[in-house]
Amino acid sequence: MTFPLFTVMNLSLGGLESPLIPLVLPVSLATAILFPAARAHRWAGYLLVLLGVQAAVTFTGAVADLVPPLFGGGRRAGHGDALLWTMFTVTAFLVVWANFIGTTLRRTFRGMVRTALDARDDALKTHEERVRSLTTLSGEIAHELKNPLASVKGLAAMIAREVEGRPAERLAVLRREVDRMQEILEGFLNFSRPLLPLNEAHVPLDALCRQVAELHEGMAGERGVGLRVVEGAPVEAWCDARKVRQVMIDVVQNALEAAPRGTTVELQARATPEGGGRVEVRDRGPGVAESLRERVFEPGITTKPQGSGLGLALSRALMRQHGGELSLHARAGGGCVAELFLPAAPQQAEAPRTEALT
Ligand SMILES: Nc1ncnc2c1ncn2[C@@H]1O[C@H](COP(=O)(O)OP(=O)(O)O)[C@@H](O)[C@H]1O
Ligand SMILES: [Mg+2]
Repeated sequence: MTFPLFTVMNLSLGGLESPLIPLVLPVSLATAILFPAARAHRWAGYLLVLLGVQAAVTFTGAVADLVPPLFGGGRRAGHGDALLWTMFTVTAFLVVWANFIGTTLRRTFRGMVRTALDARDDALKTHEERVRSLTTLSGEIAHELKNPLASVKGLAAMIAREVEGRPAERLAVLRREVDRMQEILEGFLNFSRPLLPLNEAHVPLDALCRQVAELHEGMAGERGVGLRVVEGAPVEAWCDARKVRQVMIDVVQNALEAAPRGTTVELQARATPEGGGRVEVRDRGPGVAESLRERVFEPGITTKPQGSGLGLALSRALMRQHGGELSLHARAGGGCVAELFLPAAPQQAEAPRTEALT
C-alpha cells in the first residue's frame, strides 16, 4: 500500500527531475489543438503553475529524496542549480511555444475548413439559383404550350366529325395522344406551381377513403382488380380534404396500376397513437425495390412507359405541407403499402415548398 502511494507522489511531486515532466509539452500542444484558444491558454497556465510547483519542490528541498531512490535523480545526484534552473526555464518556454504552435495549427486548419465550406456554399447557391430559374422557365414553357394544345384538340375534334374509315382511326389515336400531352402538362403545372395555402378542417379520413374508392370503381373493374375499404373506427385528421383526396387518388391509381388481375387493393384509415390519422393503400403488385423506394419520390422518376413520375413527388410535398408524411413500404406476403400520415392538430407553420420537396 505504501509503495504505490510513494511511487505516485514520487512521479507527480518528484520535482523538476520527475520523468513525467516532459509530458507537459505534448499536453500543452494537444490542448491547444483540441480546445478553443481561451481554454487552451488556461491549460498552458495550469501547466506553468505545475512546473512552478515542481521547481519549488526541487529548490526548497521540501520533499527531499523522493526522486533519487527510484530514478537516481535529484540535486544529490549532482545536478547543479544552474542546470535545473535552465531546465525549468527551457521547459516553461517550450510549454508556451507548444501552446502557440497548437493554437496556430488549429486556427490554420479551421481557416482551411471554413474556406472549403464557403466554396461549397457558393457552389450550392449558384446551383439552387440555376434550378430555380430553370423551374420558372419550364413552368412558363408548359403554360405557353397549353393554349396551342387546346387549339389542336379543338381542331382535331372538328375534323373527327368530317372523316371516316382509316383517317378517323388515325385521328382517334392523335386525339388520345393530345389528351395525354394535356395530362402531362397539367401534372407538371400542378407540380411547378407554388403550393397554395391549405384550407384545413377536421376531416373524417374513413369517409375520404370510401369516396376515393367509389371514384375508382370503374378503373378497378376495367383492370379486373378488386377495390375494398377496410372499415374500422372513425378517424379524423386536421387537413385540407381536397389536397388529401388528390394525394389518395394518385396513390390509389398507382396501386391499381401495379396490382395484377384478380387481386384486391385495400384502403384503410386508422387513428395513430400520437393522434392524427394514417391511411394505408395496400396492393399485391411487384412492390418497389428497396433501392428505389426513396427515388420514386423525385420528380420525373417513373417505370411506366406513359408515366410522368410527378404523382408521388407532388403528393409527398402536399403531405409535408400538412406536417404529415407519405412513404412506401414493402408488404408482408408481397406487394406495396403506401402510407399517408396526417397530424391531429394544426401545425405551427406550414413547411415552405422548398423544404416540402426535399
Ligand atoms: N403501388 C406501387 N407499386 C409498385 N410501384 C409503385 C407503386 N407506386 C409507385 N410505384 C413506382 O413509383 C413510380 C413513380 O410513381 P409516380 O410518382 O406516381 O409516377 P407515375 O405513376 O407517373 O409513374 C412508378 O413509376 C412506380 O415505378
Ligand atoms: Mg402515379
